Amino acid sequence: MEILERVFQNAQKNQKRIVLPEGTEPRTLKATEIIVSQKLAQLILLGNPEEIKKEAKSLGVTIDGVTIVDPKTDSKRETYANLMVEMRKSKGLTKEAALDLLNDPLYFACLMIKNGDADGELAGAINATGDVLRPALQYVKTMPGVSVVSGAFLMFVKDHQYGENGILVFADCAVMPDPNEQQLAEIAVTTAKTAKTLAGMDPRVAMLSFSTMGSAQHALVDKMVNATRIAKEMDPSLKIDGEMQLDAALVPEVGRLKAPKSEVAGKANVLVFPGLEAANIGYKLVQRLGNAEAIGPVLQGMAAPINDLSRGCSVNDIVNMVAITANQAAALFK
Ligand code: ACO
Repeated sequence: MEILERVFQNAQKNQKRIVLPEGTEPRTLKATEIIVSQKLAQLILLGNPEEIKKEAKSLGVTIDGVTIVDPKTDSKRETYANLMVEMRKSKGLTKEAALDLLNDPLYFACLMIKNGDADGELAGAINATGDVLRPALQYVKTMPGVSVVSGAFLMFVKDHQYGENGILVFADCAVMPDPNEQQLAEIAVTTAKTAKTLAGMDPRVAMLSFSTMGSAQHALVDKMVNATRIAKEMDPSLKIDGEMQLDAALVPEVGRLKAPKSEVAGKANVLVFPGLEAANIGYKLVQRLGNAEAIGPVLQGMAAPINDLSRGCSVNDIVNMVAITANQAAALFK
């Protein structure tokens, strides 16, 4: 895949510091060996050094040259705890509670990023999405001008007539259960940016619904119409249209029939779903029944890149996502 080749080359050029909190997890250790040998990033593994080395040895993988940090004994615990209290004293966080939270590698990784000791994080091979996201939302927070973190998937479908030669970006498949129209507009704008920076696309965004250009009347339809308008106000240069049905978004003949004046209908390459249920089910349908490759979720809108793996992830998924995280970090810190 051409996109992944470019992502790998860019990761190799930028050498970002990516922290992996699940330091003893076998797939993570196997991926570490590959990432080091391909020089995709400077990795930091979190955990007890003896346990990590023992597990690596039993798997027969080499992790020489990788930094290992133990969240339970590291000298920066005090600094990080003070930072946490400063950020969340209004929520009643005490120093003692902060030190306790830092025993959790998922919190520790976010504080490393907040303190400038790492550029990005990848976790989720053994932790649920909510547990990976919560510390990130609390301590790394969103980038300036963005209030919503969302998750996009790069979808590589077999039929190259759709999207950008078979590549599409779907969102939000991972984070906001029930976004309002303002949040949907933000998701559209940030997903278009992801499509541009990560996939090199000229984004054409379809705001999906069960109706096309007023064919049905319902509050859920109005929500997508309003979200489209707000997104246009947020970024007047954005090619975006809606509300539209999936076939009107993707199939040229249907697009021409149902939305003849649209510059997006029939040729959309970015699909914004009306909610997490539709988006999460939608990407999995395309992945499983359509035999498409799905890369993600790529979390967008965070002040620093933090990505979440599926617990069913493969070693290869981890390698790809480290490269993507490194690319996001390079784009942010340019
Ligand atoms: N963007 C920005 N900030 C957010 C977002 C968001 N999308 N969601 C929550 N926050 C902030 C809140 O404002 C809050 O900030 P504060 O503590 O400083 O006031 C903080 O994050 C915590 O928010 P809560 O709502 O208290 O946290 P919650 O426990 O509900 O967790 C979470 C938020 C984890 C994102 C939740 O909405 C969630 O679990 N979403 C679904 C995740 C999921 O299961 N996805 C499907 C699987 S992924 C897959 O299949 C690829």
